[in-house]
Amino acid sequence: MSYLDLARGRYSCREFEDRAVEQAVVDAIVEAGRIAPSACNNHPSRVMVLDTPELLEKAAACQPRFARDGSIFGAPLVFLICSVTDDAWVRPYDQMNSNEIDTSIVCDQMMMEATEQGLGTCWVCHFKPEVAQEQFNLPKGVYPYHMLVCGYPADHIADPEHREARTIPLSDFLLK
Ligand SMILES: Cc1cc2nc3c(=O)[nH]c(=O)nc-3n(C[C@H](O)[C@H](O)[C@H](O)COP(=O)(O)O)c2cc1C
Repeated sequence: MSYLDLARGRYSCREFEDRAVEQAVVDAIVEAGRIAPSACNNHPSRVMVLDTPELLEKAAACQPRFARDGSIFGAPLVFLICSVTDDAWVRPYDQMNSNEIDTSIVCDQMMMEATEQGLGTCWVCHFKPEVAQEQFNLPKGVYPYHMLVCGYPADHIADPEHREARTIPLSDFLLK
């Protein structure tokens, strides 16, 4: 499958089969994140694999709105993507900090690898970071930015027309 077809086929999945994700698949997703580029090659991102009932319950506690069957959206696998904030590159001209960018690239590469592996995914930022820090006992200076919720999908992609309707038109996307 071409990368474009893979990207077109991805969608936010919020219902999952009650089926564990194989360790080799978890490993491939982690590897896709590990090799992500980062500003100035600083690699501030850190990933926690949440795949036990206890850890998934903690993930759900970070956003009760998404909590279902002891996990977020009932998923059997969640990655918590964090940054060692002081390690991120800062652009000297305007102090733009690359934490969000670097962790987003990691999350995106992991999401696309998970898609390639046949998993459904949902990128989740709407959780309470201070609750995640406490639940996962994150070291000082390690900040949680994203969760990548994964599992074998129990829903399906919206039909192509519906999908196109919620995507930005090319004429708006391209600046002239
Ligand atoms: C940075 C980011 C944060 C997101 N946070 C959430 C979230 O907290 N909860 C959720 O249900 N979906 C979340 N999403 C999924 C978006 O709502 C979804 O990607 C968007 O509606 C487009 O739908 P699609 O992914 O099916 O193409 C997030 C997506 C991104 C890229």
